[in-house]
Amino acid sequence: MEKISAMAKRRGFVFPGSEIYGGFSGFWDYGPLGVELKNNIKREWWKSMVYGREDIVGLDTAIIMNPKVWEVSGHTKALADPLVECKICHKRVRADDEEAIKKHEEEHEGKGNWTEPKTFNLLTEVYLGTTEPKEKAYLRGEITQGVFVNFKNVIDSTRIKIPFGIAQIGKAFRNEITPGNFTFRSREFEQMEVEYFIKPDEKEGERVFEYWKEQRMNWYVSLGMNKESLRFRDHEESKKAHYARKATDIEYKAPFGWSEFEGIHHRGDYDLKNHKLSYKDPDSGDEYTPWVIETSGGIDRTALFFMIDAYTEDSSTSSEPRVYLKLNPRLAPYKVAVFPLLANKEELVKKARETYLSLKLKLFSVAWDARGNIGKRYFSQDEIGTPWCVTVDFQSLEDSTVTVRNRDTAKQERVAVDKLLSYFQNKLS
Ligand code: GAP
Repeated sequence: MEKISAMAKRRGFVFPGSEIYGGFSGFWDYGPLGVELKNNIKREWWKSMVYGREDIVGLDTAIIMNPKVWEVSGHTKALADPLVECKICHKRVRADDEEAIKKHEEEHEGKGNWTEPKTFNLLTEVYLGTTEPKEKAYLRGEITQGVFVNFKNVIDSTRIKIPFGIAQIGKAFRNEITPGNFTFRSREFEQMEVEYFIKPDEKEGERVFEYWKEQRMNWYVSLGMNKESLRFRDHEESKKAHYARKATDIEYKAPFGWSEFEGIHHRGDYDLKNHKLSYKDPDSGDEYTPWVIETSGGIDRTALFFMIDAYTEDSSTSSEPRVYLKLNPRLAPYKVAVFPLLANKEELVKKARETYLSLKLKLFSVAWDARGNIGKRYFSQDEIGTPWCVTVDFQSLEDSTVTVRNRDTAKQERVAVDKLLSYFQNKLS
């Protein structure tokens, strides 16, 4: 984790939030490479959930909603964590975080003197308006409620019929007691969710729940996440969220232990019933409250686990390990980097710039580097996961071919400059 977080800061993936003022616990900023990685994850997710299907439409709803939404959804009461307070120094930690409790007790020579657990609501309050008393509202604690309150609007505007889903990506906020493990537990984070509406039926509910479990697990594997580092974990009855009839997490084997980064939830009719919403079948005329199967992934955790999973140290070719980020090219911040073999040879730089600009026009995320020697440039691109490096050398001036080096194998091949775009497009498709 130390290696990953140091690299993430040094190379511009993730910076501590408000760093020049000493940071702010639980908030992170994504740098030039981090925003590309996150956007690529979101793009791939949207492609698979919305563009790749006929039964799911997208939505983008407000972060701040009428506070009644959160009372009706049960979050003002139930989005809560148990908290204990150290009677010696008054520090508060999650009652279920054994590691944090032990670590804190070490600060008091191993002595623990804690209060009884008290629940602590995680919704973040905001105050709106200019006249006192200001109007109290909440930053959304999950992006989900915006989908439910627009259930009727989506049906009326699209005429979509059950079974169907609504997909959304957006920020959520939780006043976490102990943010930590880098971006894993933050106070501001981004979610990618589908709420899938079905006709209430036990068997169908079971089938759709299992279907989405499989779909979501396969999606992570299809983007290169190591299967052995992934598992499902069913929630015990006592740990289930207040809205869930049934819940399974997808967990990743992180350096800090198996950790949830997506939840598949069978929400039954909990939400639509509370919001007094129902569905009228346009064909049969039947009216009922649909059931909801939800897939809820965290983009920050997904980005972190893709980085951890891709981090590779290879000592097979030299005593100094070669470090590279073996990201799926579709997720890599830069697809290609272009260099002139020597930065002080004008004709090489000119041809390399032309090659770079023509690729950048079509592939967008293309890097240029003319610093240091070629070995250092490869090292630098490997570390951030750039799958291919193009070098313009003296032979390029004669026959208009360049070398293309593969990040994972370090092998090179010669490709004609006018075939480069289709070469990369084929590899990315
Ligand atoms: N709508 C359902 C819902 O919000 P959740 O299991 O509470 O379910 C879904 O959250 C996902 O959101 C988690 O699997 C995780 O990836 C992400 N998430 C939740 N709390 C988070 C936090 N404090 N920091 C980063 N990501 C978080």
